[in-house]
Amino acid sequence: MKNKLFYFLFIALLSSVSYAEKGNIPAAPQLHGAGDDKTGYDTKNYITNSKALATRVGKKADLMALIKQPPLGLPAVPIPTHNPITVEKIDLGRKLFYDRRLSLNNTFSCAMCHVPEQGFTHNELATSVGLEGRSGRRNNPTLYNIAYAEKLFHDGREDNLEQQVWGPLLAHNEMGNPSPGIVLRKIRALEDYNGLFERVFGKPLNMETIGMALATYQRSLNSANSPFDQWYFGQNEQAVSANVKNGFKLFSGKANCIACHTVKKDHALFTNNLLHNTGHGFRVSTQPRPAKQMITIAPGQTIEIESDLFDSVSEKKPNDVGLYEITENPADRWKYKTPTLRNISLTAPYMHDGAFKTLKEVIEFYNQGGVPNEDLDPLIKPLNLTYNEQSDLLAFLNSLTGSNVDELISDGFAAPVGDTQQ
Ligand code: HEC
Ligand code: HEC
Repeated sequence: MKNKLFYFLFIALLSSVSYAEKGNIPAAPQLHGAGDDKTGYDTKNYITNSKALATRVGKKADLMALIKQPPLGLPAVPIPTHNPITVEKIDLGRKLFYDRRLSLNNTFSCAMCHVPEQGFTHNELATSVGLEGRSGRRNNPTLYNIAYAEKLFHDGREDNLEQQVWGPLLAHNEMGNPSPGIVLRKIRALEDYNGLFERVFGKPLNMETIGMALATYQRSLNSANSPFDQWYFGQNEQAVSANVKNGFKLFSGKANCIACHTVKKDHALFTNNLLHNTGHGFRVSTQPRPAKQMITIAPGQTIEIESDLFDSVSEKKPNDVGLYEITENPADRWKYKTPTLRNISLTAPYMHDGAFKTLKEVIEFYNQGGVPNEDLDPLIKPLNLTYNEQSDLLAFLNSLTGSNVDELISDGFAAPVGDTQQ
């Protein structure tokens, strides 16, 4: 039974990536326990939002310009002195980022979880799914403006992009490589990488240079000059509506979101780079498990199974206590990193476990004061926002989409994917 379900899940996953092109997604949004937001996945004519390889046609962008002169609303890009930016290094990092051959079985790239056309995150999954359908417990964060992050991962456990890449490369449920040596040996044997590392770094491929190249590409994914930026920093009064302006007034006043999602005088990253307990993690990790759960095993085939069986096919999600896992300080339970809010309307679902499908739900969560618990951040309290105020706050969040997102998506499509089947 277990193997059969595994097989179904695997086929379901494969079909979700190969039936492509945008189509009319049937209505009837339904959650089936695993938290997927594949609206209509339970109908036979499900069509994914992802694009088939053949339709991924794009144009290379001037990524160096996005680092040297980031769009309006962003500060200068911090560049570590030991890893200066060059065009060749960005290109090499980009090649690695989209290359499926970096995973153990040649099927999984960084870009398959940080999907360019899905906000460099994955809109269809609440929590990550890696190689061979292996599930993770957390939501894939967006990589837009990741150059500015002082802490990486939802629990802030890593602090630099150069080192971070070895997390996913070696994780069993992400790219599945059993050791750094296996990754290095593999890339060394690929003809199209022949001499590339030597040319870019003046030294051969090794753990350090792979990290440096991938970090450099990611530092170019800068996106701003949103309608909000054009109004707030560019003084263009016409760039946004009165609702957006009022939404920002609430954001920085009555609702005090700005206390954590920071906006400075001449730029805004919408994060204080700190970790906080909003109560969401508390609720998720303490709520009782239902005895039975729905599971969709293929488009059109949804069944109800015992929770224990559910665990055996989808891998039981370990409890998530946030920063506590790093510090072992009980006061740090359920603290997570404040995420940026730039491009927020493109990066659903939300929170560290992707539990909220819409921004409306996030706003309602804050409006009711998060979820009370012993260590709730004192800044989280009931806001008493009216319906109109909540809708203005939403309008403001929707005004944070950068003007160059299409350019970055198209650039991603132009990158080779290292598909061994082609
Ligand atoms: C299976 C899906 C998956 C793959 C493949 C994957 N990631 Fe991620 N990525 C995630 C998830 C999930 C997290 C958050 C994990 C956590 O907080 O514990 C994450 C976090 C990150 C972060 C930190 C972002 C932040 O805001 O803190 C960076 C940077 C990143 N990934 C880059 C990469 C790179 C580079 C690769 C390829 C080498 C890659 N990822 C491959 C799912 C994936
Ligand atoms: C005490 C600090 C704090 C305050 C105040 C705060 N936030 Fe947050 N915000 C966070 C943290 C921390 C998270 C991540 C929670 C998680 O991952 O479980 C978050 C997550 C979010 C997300 C989801 C982002 C994503 O990519 O998943 C949105 C949207 C958001 N906040 C908007 C707001 C709005 C709007 C307000 C004001 C009503 C607000 N926040 C007030 C700290 C704060």
